[in-house]
Amino acid sequence: MSEAVQLDTGHELDLGWMDQHGQWDTKAEQSKYGLTLADIQIGEYGDAPVESDNQTGRPRGAAERPGSYRIGNYAVRTKSEIWLDNASFLYEEALQRQWSSATDIPWHTIEPLPDDIEQAQCTMDTFLTEVEFVAGDVPARWISQTTPDFFEARNVLLCQVMDESRHMDVFRKRALANGGGLMKATGGTAGVVGSIDLSRDFTEMSSRLHISGEGAVLTIFRMGELMAYNDAEKAIYRLCAQDEARHVAFGVMHMRYMAETAPERHEEIHCYLDEAERGILAGSQNPAGQFPTTSESMAILLGGGKKHFDEGRNKLIAIRRRQLSEYIKRVRSAGFGDRFDNGRSQVPEILADIAA
Ligand SMILES: [Fe+2]
Ligand SMILES: [Fe+2]
Repeated sequence: MSEAVQLDTGHELDLGWMDQHGQWDTKAEQSKYGLTLADIQIGEYGDAPVESDNQTGRPRGAAERPGSYRIGNYAVRTKSEIWLDNASFLYEEALQRQWSSATDIPWHTIEPLPDDIEQAQCTMDTFLTEVEFVAGDVPARWISQTTPDFFEARNVLLCQVMDESRHMDVFRKRALANGGGLMKATGGTAGVVGSIDLSRDFTEMSSRLHISGEGAVLTIFRMGELMAYNDAEKAIYRLCAQDEARHVAFGVMHMRYMAETAPERHEEIHCYLDEAERGILAGSQNPAGQFPTTSESMAILLGGGKKHFDEGRNKLIAIRRRQLSEYIKRVRSAGFGDRFDNGRSQVPEILADIAA
């Protein structure tokens, strides 16, 4: 026991706090990637509880403080609701791969473009600014709802919010960098945003945002090279794709964890996917016939101007096809592939139609 000490100056040190701690003699050792979150998941500190009763913001593994008041009203306190096995890895990767939209993009490589190309680019920039705003806003409101005991998953989401704010600003910067500017708001996120906002459950939100919404955006970024007219645009798409792949991985890994640990929720998750697919299909049906603003702009960028619209449209159809096949792979990887084999999902059918 540490006893109180009387100092010469007259102060008395209590020191009682020295005996109140979590597991002691802890010696985390770094791995080849440095001292990562995975390396400190040791002893009692590594145990994320299946159910958390932590409403006081107590750091996981710290000694309890009697008489604490509630500082959080955490709705997410069941591990399967938000957990994923590789959260620590995704978090460390996010930290290592932060980039600056001010200095890591070779902005000087942008040169004046024909009006139709610049207008199409600025429309995409406007659309993506809208998309990225939502992609940051929605997970942000779930972070404060989640118990500190699941901080690894929270930290990945905190990084996502930072990533999305950078994505939002980089497309805004591109719109303002070459003689154009922002175009009319596309409203392209209206349907998706409405439903993401209405999610009552984290996994419901994640299936809409990470798996279907960001999955589709990731495919666009990966094909961005085909739409880019200079090294600055190529760098923007490449760096955004790198971040976006992490966000999508969060959704897939979380859904996999949910599939493995909460089989009673399978049917419910399938319902979320049914709903997400209605949105995907609405955007993919008749890709050659109907061209809302963003599709027209993409086809103009892909083809090389209004005059080459048909060529661009064919490339756009290839992108739509890739969006659907990547979606199928993702859902299979998450453990819900049975929907494609038992006829519940219409996505394989639509994919076959587009391929024909
Ligand atoms: Fe993003
Ligand atoms: Fe994202």
